[in-house]
Amino acid sequence: MPVITCIEDLRVLAKRRVPRMFYDYVDAGSWTESTYRNNSLDLASIKLRQRVAVDMDRRTLATRMIGENVSMPVALAPVGLTGMQHGDGEIHAARAAEKFGVPFVLSTMSICSIEDVAANTSRPFWFQLYVMRDRDFIGRLIDRAKAAGCSALVLTLDLQILGQRHKDLKNGLSTPPKPTLRNIANMATKPRWCWSMLQTRRRSFGNIVGHASGVGDMSSLSQWTAQQFDPTLNWDDVAWIKERWGGKLILKGIMDPEDAMLAVRSGADALIVSNHGGRQLDGAPSSIAALPAIVDAVGGDIEVWVDGGIRSGQDVIRALALGARGTLIGRAFVYGLGALGEAGVTKALQLIANELDLTMAFCGLRDVNAVDGSILFRN
Ligand SMILES: Cc1cc2nc3c(=O)[nH]c(=O)nc-3n(C[C@H](O)[C@H](O)[C@H](O)COP(=O)(O)O)c2cc1C
Repeated sequence: MPVITCIEDLRVLAKRRVPRMFYDYVDAGSWTESTYRNNSLDLASIKLRQRVAVDMDRRTLATRMIGENVSMPVALAPVGLTGMQHGDGEIHAARAAEKFGVPFVLSTMSICSIEDVAANTSRPFWFQLYVMRDRDFIGRLIDRAKAAGCSALVLTLDLQILGQRHKDLKNGLSTPPKPTLRNIANMATKPRWCWSMLQTRRRSFGNIVGHASGVGDMSSLSQWTAQQFDPTLNWDDVAWIKERWGGKLILKGIMDPEDAMLAVRSGADALIVSNHGGRQLDGAPSSIAALPAIVDAVGGDIEVWVDGGIRSGQDVIRALALGARGTLIGRAFVYGLGALGEAGVTKALQLIANELDLTMAFCGLRDVNAVDGSILFRN
């Protein structure tokens, strides 16, 4: 067992342990992947100011996101098919998040259902909503999240249509995987993954199969997904969804100050500056590059968070320094899950917390709530 010291170690191990189709689904962006790459590259280019001879004792990373106490300003982002990285993956990730004291966001396109995750955790998680044409189904999905005690709804606005990811097309991504020779040969080299999958019957989209009309099995589901994501989604829909939900609302996928102002007008509690991890508009700026203008425009009116490319605690503090009040991580925790199951998600969170804590101290601060633009090195 290799010694894991950084998120990159978890990625390398996940690549070895997760079938290619599902690993590639995660480690990919749309088209040329330029936005995907820039998310991390632009974060890495932000330099920090080192301070010395400052009392660095008694440090804290604890803060609040939409009024909820968190042990650090990092939530687990919604990631579809998490349960195909490791058997019952969403339950494992939610448990790791709960124990660590950070929010977990369950994707609409999860393998374990809202009810599965609720039955296997003891604190409320957040539910991410994709809007489909079947409004009846969407209404019921919102009600199910409410009934399960979810404490916030994360409405994703940047996936009415799907950016093309070459690898998924080439691999013939499906869940469960089709029993082709290529897939079987590849899975035969992933015994841990096969074992974890044999322990569960959850291998298809738990929030959808059996709940949406006309979807009984997976072969009709892929077709259904392509047909069902609603290209007409607009701000009027945000209004009725907000009303039907009636609780804390977070809007995900904002990249432009004008859209951020509309998000404020909608009455949402927080917005997430996000380009979907570089998986939608290839050619969009990195989310860290889009953040400052959005903070300038609406930072006083709504909580602004950011995701995309965060692979370390240093990246988290860079986002905070540029004005984000919270961050989300996608691939960083998914690599941990694929590598080591629940322990791997915990490991990812520990690594990031430790890096954040030490980096904050090197910058001369003891309280994460005090991080601001003054820790940035400017030439
Ligand atoms: C494999 C994968 C699946 C994703 N599925 C969803 C999803 O179902 N819903 C959603 O709102 N965002 C989804 N996202 C986007 C993430 O929530 C998040 O915005 C992104 O992963 C952040 O970038 P990072 O992975 O570099 O941290 C997905 C991202 C990945 C990598």
